[in-house]
Amino acid sequence: MSNLIKNILSKGWVSRIFWKNRHVFQPEFLKYLKSIQDDYRSKSSYFNELISKYMDQNEILVLELGCSSGSALYGIKEKTNASVFGIDINRKAIEFCIRNFSERYEEGFYFTNKYDEEEILRFINDNNRKEFDLVIFDRVLYCLEDDEIVNLFKSICNLTNYIYVDDFFYSDNLKTSTYKHRKWDELLAKYKFISILDNKSMYSASEVVFSRSRLYKKAK
Ligand SMILES: C[S@@+](CC[C@H](N)C(=O)[O-])C[C@H]1O[C@@H](n2cnc3c(N)ncnc32)[C@H](O)[C@@H]1O
Repeated sequence: MSNLIKNILSKGWVSRIFWKNRHVFQPEFLKYLKSIQDDYRSKSSYFNELISKYMDQNEILVLELGCSSGSALYGIKEKTNASVFGIDINRKAIEFCIRNFSERYEEGFYFTNKYDEEEILRFINDNNRKEFDLVIFDRVLYCLEDDEIVNLFKSICNLTNYIYVDDFFYSDNLKTSTYKHRKWDELLAKYKFISILDNKSMYSASEVVFSRSRLYKKAK
């Protein structure tokens, strides 16, 4: 992605318009969705390792916000008995996910364009569960504004045991960057989520950023 686009995306509401209409701004987007979906195994093996280490794989319930092609959820569903809930602001991405999952599965997946707590509760309830095992925020939180993140955490932190965040993490050593770096540990600690795993992000970034991937667990 060019620096010009990155700069534009750092402005909250502009970012929303971009992601929602990415297929208009970047006509090659649909081909891109297909290519990342085809490449799902490398990414999902990472999530499957986390799941096998920390969670009960027999009946796992996973939500991803900003699921894009659905590649992470697809890989999780392939290796576990998972029911997955994907959300992405981009309508074309959601249509792609529904098409792709329907070709392989009859049930155990749900995709939608917007975060709607009632819809999410219904999905949990339909799966005879009280909460998700895992919620994935893989390179999506940086697209959101501060108030959106507060509202999102207020809602979702009550509905999951683990939260995975791949994003830009605030660091005293990092002075300037196009991307907003946030104090995810502090923000999630308000809801009793503690970081139990800290890795370098699996995505390479050409500019100076502090991107990490962390797994948070809800304290009992
Ligand atoms: C950088 S991409 C990451 C996609 C995917 N998680 C991955 O790592 O390959 C960010 C994704 O988040 C989606 N997105 C951006 N803002 C969103 C919002 N407010 N709600 C839901 N999805 C959003 C975009 O449409 C895009 O698919």
